[in-house]
Amino acid sequence: MADHNAVTKNGVIIDGAQMGPRFYGRRKGRPLRASMKRLLDEDLPQIVFDPARTIDDQFSRKADRYLEIGFGGGEHLAGLAAAMPDCDFIGAEPFINGVASLLRHIHEQQLGNIRIWPDDVRLIMPSLGTASLAGAFIMFPDPWPKKRHAARRILQTALLDQLAVMIRPGGRLVLASDDPTAKSWLLQAATAHADFMWTARGPQDWRQRPTELPETRYMKKADRAKRRSSWFLFQRCDAVA
Ligand SMILES: C[S@@+](CC[C@H](N)C(=O)[O-])C[C@H]1O[C@@H](n2cnc3c(N)ncnc32)[C@H](O)[C@@H]1O
Repeated sequence: MADHNAVTKNGVIIDGAQMGPRFYGRRKGRPLRASMKRLLDEDLPQIVFDPARTIDDQFSRKADRYLEIGFGGGEHLAGLAAAMPDCDFIGAEPFINGVASLLRHIHEQQLGNIRIWPDDVRLIMPSLGTASLAGAFIMFPDPWPKKRHAARRILQTALLDQLAVMIRPGGRLVLASDDPTAKSWLLQAATAHADFMWTARGPQDWRQRPTELPETRYMKKADRAKRRSSWFLFQRCDAVA
């Protein structure tokens, strides 16, 4: 079976961890069923995101493009892609069982507008290009609640700086979480960034899931555990700060 954790650079297979930032999450979960392995072996190579090629080339069209960072099981990304067939979606997720799950959604719903980066999103950020995105989503990121693990949280100033370059003026950045530490971290980091503006007018704007956003697996987990989720919608400011 192919090594699904490997990524290629200039045709050479390398491990993501060797070429860039350290990823602290899980890359593998339960052993995959044969049908899921087949999706990884046969379907993934057809739609794997290739940082060496332009995005237009990879989708063979021009369209509004969105990035989801850490798509988990892919329910949210597949839901968006099905609801917005005129837009394209790039999803990054190093957890291979999650990648297989998204591939199943893509296969079942015959979605042609998703490209998958099965690794750390930070490895492809520089290749995405200025104002290349209409928006980005970070849904229920790992909270890393201990203070000494704060550097492991995905949303850092450096990532926001990159998102500010990639998201076009007026574009959206959507952040969501059910974890108190993560909520304050996300909100504080994004409101402190000069290139993003929080669009909420009142509590209803962050307490209710925007109707156009599909549910995510972690959101459902939070609902079952009676934890309150929040959605923070930011807009990329027009003027460059
Ligand atoms: C708590 S899960 C949430 C999954 C999904 N968004 C949901 O709401 O169901 C966070 C996900 O982010 C992924 N993740 C963490 N760091 C990442 C990174 N640097 N690049 C891409 N994905 C990352 C993890 O592998 C994990 O699947």
